[in-house]
Amino acid sequence: MPTPHNADQSHSGSNYSRRGFLITASAAIASCKAADPTAPKPAAVASVKTPANPGYRTPAVQGPIPRNPDISQSRNFSKDAGVTFSRVLVSGNYVAMTFDDGPHPQNTPRLLDLLRARNIKATFFVIGRSVDLYPHVVRRTVAEGHEIGNHTYTHRLLSKLSDSEVRKEMTRCRDAVANAAGVQMRTMRPPYGGLLQRQRQLIHSEFGYPTILWSVDPLDWKRPGPSVVASRILKGATPGGIILAHDLHAPTVDAMPATLDGLLKRGFKFVTVSQLIAMKKQPVAAAPSTQPDTPTAGDATAQTAVSAPLPDTL
Ligand code: NI
Repeated sequence: MPTPHNADQSHSGSNYSRRGFLITASAAIASCKAADPTAPKPAAVASVKTPANPGYRTPAVQGPIPRNPDISQSRNFSKDAGVTFSRVLVSGNYVAMTFDDGPHPQNTPRLLDLLRARNIKATFFVIGRSVDLYPHVVRRTVAEGHEIGNHTYTHRLLSKLSDSEVRKEMTRCRDAVANAAGVQMRTMRPPYGGLLQRQRQLIHSEFGYPTILWSVDPLDWKRPGPSVVASRILKGATPGGIILAHDLHAPTVDAMPATLDGLLKRGFKFVTVSQLIAMKKQPVAAAPSTQPDTPTAGDATAQTAVSAPLPDTL
């Protein structure tokens, strides 16, 4: 039984229940203008239990959902395209949406639903250990046309590891994805963005993976709230940009309808990271420049120098 509020203790017990019910009902109808100090607190009815709703999904947005155009861009990029990318110099308003640290058994499928409704293909940098736990999620991700990238097997800071440990992290994740979904990954992203230049070159030459960093980091792993995540991404997105987010976190997935719809309404088109790299514009060779100090601005090599990786989650 609920404990009556102090103000009600002067009333006799015999009519408390009936009186309380009537006040509650009339207060609900009459708005809060004339609050009756004897009205029971809402806690008096808070003990009512509702059954769990396992079918709950994020509520659908109002109105038509914007749709990414069908994009027939190839995913085959040259190994000469570059060793590191935090953005890509392209013609057109293309961006790559990337999600790290999955697969997650609930959040990733919910995200896949949101992407499918918008005809958006994204890139998932997966942790091999989680791939072994949830291979069916990776299979669905691949079946729906998304790209998978190598995010190591155990999500350790690679810059602290020996070459043989780095190889092991790459190989175990590669094998987990191959076993789960039968695909070979084309790119990698180091946990926490931490990878020495020498290690980037080793991985590029031995595995063929360019290192993929990012140009937009909403710091979603700090859980600032879905609307903040969305506004940071909308503010930071530029043509050729690579956007970092984490499908491990439910609030990040909650931020995606506003994020994706906002980007589509601003004219951005979504491609995978490999498609973005394959679109890379080659710098004009030996072109006379008024800025001789920055002849390769926008080139992957130049971007390596300006990229400032920030820690991601875990
Ligand atoms: Ni990560």
